[in-house]
Amino acid sequence: MLCPREANNVTSDLIELGKMLHKTSGLMMDTDKTYLVESRLAPVLRRTGLADISALLKTIKSGCDPALKQDVIDSMMTNETFFFRDRAPFDNFRDVFLPNLMEARKDERRLRIWCAGASTGQEPYSLTMILDEEMRKLAGWHVEILATDLSSTAIARARQGCYTQFEVQRGLPISFLLRYFVNEGEKWRINEYLRTKVQFEEFNLLSDFGHYGQFDVIFCRNVLIYFDLETKKDVLRRLGNALAKDGILVTGSAETVVGLSDTLIPHPTLRLASIHRPCTAVKMPIFAAPTRRLQ
Ligand SMILES: C[S@@+](CC[C@H](N)C(=O)[O-])C[C@H]1O[C@@H](n2cnc3c(N)ncnc32)[C@H](O)[C@@H]1O
Repeated sequence: MLCPREANNVTSDLIELGKMLHKTSGLMMDTDKTYLVESRLAPVLRRTGLADISALLKTIKSGCDPALKQDVIDSMMTNETFFFRDRAPFDNFRDVFLPNLMEARKDERRLRIWCAGASTGQEPYSLTMILDEEMRKLAGWHVEILATDLSSTAIARARQGCYTQFEVQRGLPISFLLRYFVNEGEKWRINEYLRTKVQFEEFNLLSDFGHYGQFDVIFCRNVLIYFDLETKKDVLRRLGNALAKDGILVTGSAETVVGLSDTLIPHPTLRLASIHRPCTAVKMPIFAAPTRRLQ
């Protein structure tokens, strides 16, 4: 049991940690959830031999361990993800966006896709598997898939493309597991061909992303949900700028652009999938609903 003075110190440490996280990543930390913060930071304390959060903050401020701040941020991130999460966005990607974009880009034969907040890679690899299935139609096309995340640990895992039995059992059709993964004892590794199709990078969405250029499809799912209102608006505004005029932004099922963006609106026919397009689009094609589900 902490005495009132110790309890006050813990609270002020949590507030300071919360401010640092918010400033660096946009993450809104719930300071009431002391147990959650402590359990996430426990491995960092063990690794560094530091006694508590207060010592951790002091060491970060001293600047004597430059990697420590990133380590703390990584530990505080929620990296929850799985293959073909929510299914509908992937069905829509294959049956609706891809055919429409292929028609619209048939002269330049070039597609650019960005998974922003890709965590450990299941989302970009799910898209890559779909693209591989459509390979015959995409012969001669230049397709780029960029996958970024703030967490260096998540991106390192994504690059390795190595998953546990539990992870491949979540959402991945068995036929895809057999076709695209190589069994390595208790793990499954995505095959080399698909792995090299995705370009993974550490990247903070709070930074300027103008250098990435324009994308036809952006998946930014279950990331905005952790940001405060102003950060959501700012990131959405810049994501809108990074979208081609007929591009698509796919957000998570609990995320919306309504009231947060002047340039992005819910898709007219696929509302349930939380799909948005710039309202500056010249013409809104009437999309059909997806015709098939993943087997
Ligand atoms: C819950 S996961 C979502 C993963 C995947 N998009 C999905 O829906 O399955 C959220 C991811 O967003 C990343 N993230 C949080 N804040 C970020 C930021 N400021 N810039 C980039 N990525 C961020 C986290 O590291 C985490 O991997």
